[in-house]
Amino acid sequence: MNYRGYAYVYTIGCQMNSYDSEKIAAILGSLGYAKTDQLEKADIVVCNTCSIREKAQEKAFSFLGTVAGKKRKRPGLISIMSGCVAQQEGENVFKRIPHLDIVMGTQAFSRLPALISKVQSGMRHVSDTDEPNEIFESMPDFTTLDREKISRFVTIMQGCNNFCTYCVVPHVRGRERSRTPQNIVEEITVLAESGVKEVTLLGQNVNSYGGYGEEDGRGKIDLHTRGLCTFPELLEKINEIEGIERIRFATSHPKNISDELIFAIRDLKKVCNQLHLPVQSGSNAILKKMNRGYTRESYLERIATLRSHCPGVGLSSDMIVGFPSESRQDFDQTLDLIKRVEFDGLFAFSYSDRPNAPASKFPSPLSEEEKMERLNELLSLQEHYTEKSNLASVGKVESVLVEGRSMKNRHAEAEMPSEPQLPQMTGRTESGKIVHFHADNTEPGELVDIYIEHAYPHSLWGRLLKNR
Ligand code: SAH
Ligand code: SF4
Ligand code: F3S
Repeated sequence: MNYRGYAYVYTIGCQMNSYDSEKIAAILGSLGYAKTDQLEKADIVVCNTCSIREKAQEKAFSFLGTVAGKKRKRPGLISIMSGCVAQQEGENVFKRIPHLDIVMGTQAFSRLPALISKVQSGMRHVSDTDEPNEIFESMPDFTTLDREKISRFVTIMQGCNNFCTYCVVPHVRGRERSRTPQNIVEEITVLAESGVKEVTLLGQNVNSYGGYGEEDGRGKIDLHTRGLCTFPELLEKINEIEGIERIRFATSHPKNISDELIFAIRDLKKVCNQLHLPVQSGSNAILKKMNRGYTRESYLERIATLRSHCPGVGLSSDMIVGFPSESRQDFDQTLDLIKRVEFDGLFAFSYSDRPNAPASKFPSPLSEEEKMERLNELLSLQEHYTEKSNLASVGKVESVLVEGRSMKNRHAEAEMPSEPQLPQMTGRTESGKIVHFHADNTEPGELVDIYIEHAYPHSLWGRLLKNR
């Protein structure tokens, strides 16, 4: 294709936003804009935004602030805000960023070409943030995607019906909608044919895929009559796709993680022995105020069941520290839960007030200092378990999916005899840990056996045993 310009897409936020950014880049590609990673070269700049915490939102405004300067030098430059902040703020964004051309909500991608045409024909401040309640089923044009990646995200459902009291997602992504199994399988088949080996299926609550658990007047709805299926059934279908070696998914919700899903992790060969199960707090009082729909006891029971069926399962979670009214006792319950579970990895966040989220009006907010203190305390406790988990891999043979060459020389840090003639490669274990190793005959996308020799705080070092 003859390109007529360059597009720079800057992504903030979750994996779903990364997936959406690929889609946006593909649409811009089909309009004749090649992807660039140099902001200076860009004719179109897209900032795909996240609103989950105040900080993420401010990052978007500060990035778009720097684009203002570029626009002065290149008046033809088109600037676009997309994603969750765009959906939340709509036209208000233009008050804060007058140079911005387009505000595009979370469901408006299919209309992006028309929005750009409007700007090119002289319109200013074009916005499209209609209610986010449709689903973008069609796939991006893969001919314009960068083809090196062996691992890809695939959004299987959008929106959320859970309304956790702190969370902005249901307000900016709308109600839960699921793509059809046929459409998902078709998309992954195309990815597999183009060399992709690993897919991560995305949804805010994958356990309710297809509307599982929903009831009408006569009881639970039969998903199959709607042309849908349960999430474990979807995993079975994807497990059959030739060329795909690994399947991951996020996020599971503790209130409806079923035994069937646990059996699917255990029994389906390609589904990784790994689970991300955000708990948010270890205190029942706080979980109730968060509207999470489970207790610490039921969470611990699910973990015990999971571990009994899937020994060695890699387990990670999310925590929010400093939710309004969180007492020292509540926080101690959170620390206690971390000690009981011993997560392999943990993402912890300081609670942030969000517009539309009821918790922002709850009594007894904590000060920023208190929140930071607790966050640091929690993180240093978790560091111990992350290290313990990494050390537990030493001396074991791990199956590693090779992702590419690693830039950093880990070997020097380990003070081991170096083999500089061999390239240093990087990949991931089934549980998602990063592994570096030396090899001269492995390619991205290969599954290899690595003997783990050394553990770092955030990665492993190993020796190649054999290509599978
Ligand atoms: N659907 C997923 C989470 C999506 S948001 C789930 O329910 O687990 C990712 C994480 O951001 C959440 O798990 C939570 O830990 C964090 N988060 C969401 N809203 C937040 C807020 N207002 N302040 C701080 N952290 C928040
Ligand atoms: Fe937000 Fe809760 Fe939905 Fe997750 S389940 S996206 S935390 S409302
Ligand atoms: Fe952020 Fe939107 Fe994802 S708010 S976390 S980008 S769904």
